[in-house]
Amino acid sequence: MKHRTIIEPFRIKSVEPIGISTEAERTGQLKAAHYNPFLLRSRDVIIDLMTDSGTSAMSAHQWAGVMEGDEAYAGSRSWERMEQAVQELTGMGHVLPTHQGRAAERIIYGHLGGPGKVFISNTHFDTTRANIEFTKATAIDIPIAEGKDPALQHPFKGNMDVAELDRLLKEHKGHVGAVILTVTNNSGGGQPVSIANAEGVSALCKHHGVLFLLDCCRIAENSWFVKHREGDLSSLSYRQIAQRMFSLADGAVMSAKKDALVNMGGFLALRDEALAEACTNLLIITEGFSTYGGLSGRDMEAIAIGLEEVFDPHYLDYRIRSTTFLGEKLHALGVPLMRPIGGHAVYIDAKKLYPHIPWHEYPGQALVCELYRLGGIRCVEIGSVMFGKYAADGSLIPSAMELVRLAIPRRVYTQSHIEYVAETFEEIMRMREKVKGIRIVKEPKFLRHFTAHFEPIAELHSA
Ligand code: F0G
Repeated sequence: MKHRTIIEPFRIKSVEPIGISTEAERTGQLKAAHYNPFLLRSRDVIIDLMTDSGTSAMSAHQWAGVMEGDEAYAGSRSWERMEQAVQELTGMGHVLPTHQGRAAERIIYGHLGGPGKVFISNTHFDTTRANIEFTKATAIDIPIAEGKDPALQHPFKGNMDVAELDRLLKEHKGHVGAVILTVTNNSGGGQPVSIANAEGVSALCKHHGVLFLLDCCRIAENSWFVKHREGDLSSLSYRQIAQRMFSLADGAVMSAKKDALVNMGGFLALRDEALAEACTNLLIITEGFSTYGGLSGRDMEAIAIGLEEVFDPHYLDYRIRSTTFLGEKLHALGVPLMRPIGGHAVYIDAKKLYPHIPWHEYPGQALVCELYRLGGIRCVEIGSVMFGKYAADGSLIPSAMELVRLAIPRRVYTQSHIEYVAETFEEIMRMREKVKGIRIVKEPKFLRHFTAHFEPIAELHSA
């Protein structure tokens, strides 16, 4: 018999209680957190869909590995395991351990960046862009046109516009720091990148003599989409598909907090010895010695095991199909979504959900607040709060889309948690015309979404 029901392919061995709150309590908590979910306390959240990063449940095997961790300063056994796991997966000889993805980004982009340098990506993730711009270099996003239309169906909406890449590589000849494929494309909707697209990017980079890097934190999820959507590759295993993609690149930056199924960690993998040496010098200055970077031995042990477990076909099937399950439920309710559904998250088109709220009153942030108030669900805006930019004359330039991301932690929530989220959206849909915009009252210069303070506009008007 072939079952329709997708079960979680694991049993629960250890549980963590969820604090259940009332709507009145959450209204107060939201105000105290200045309407910014990053300023809420975790204990006040019922279902936490803020991120899939560092929020995975580790397996019994990983926890056993934690006990095995070798905490030696130099040449630890756990480092040998992690280094080997990364080398076998990426085919890259030089591996630098870091405490998370952005530490690897700071090292590589700190080295390659600087004034006048240009970086080109399908879409730079926010920390990637910040690390590049911090060096006074420029970050340019060139997703394919289909990737910019939330409702349009396309199997690989994460792809890079290869014709535009060719044009940019000619225009900025001699000034390109690197070309970066973010796999899957997080900011563009968790959408996959095809092997064919990576091949096109790789060929152009080789032709122009430019470094090609993968931001590979969701590479296993990407492999699932390739196997099921890129016809001629369906006979390869998920791991082989990932290896094929790595074989096209000169290096990779990974936040292990995603597809290595751990709570902390990352790495930089490179083929070129001289580049690896320069980066290792920076690693030792800010992260730690080259055989632990910013990690303890136990973290490295868990990463080595997680990089194996994540390619289990039953796990990946459950993972992608359970994200789709939430997406399909919301779609059936009429919630405007980024489609098709991505790998790690469901993205809601807040501009379409709240057409009466103009972009400069942040419809995405308004939805984030509503979800918390009604259901204790925490998630983040990926729109003009996160990506809005000030022009030289002080005016604000909006983001291309006003999205809200419901990111699903790996192996953490069950189907009934997800059904609770869907039920909350029934009320979101009933209330949609009554919701008002939000404004920013305080913001920092970089990555403003983390610490900005907001106020609901309606409250100001009635005050
Ligand atoms: N690249 C991508 C595509 C990411 O999604 C992230 C993190 C990073 C790099 C940086 O890695 O957090 O380990 O320093 N994304 C998290 C998220 C924060 O919620 O999507 P990090």
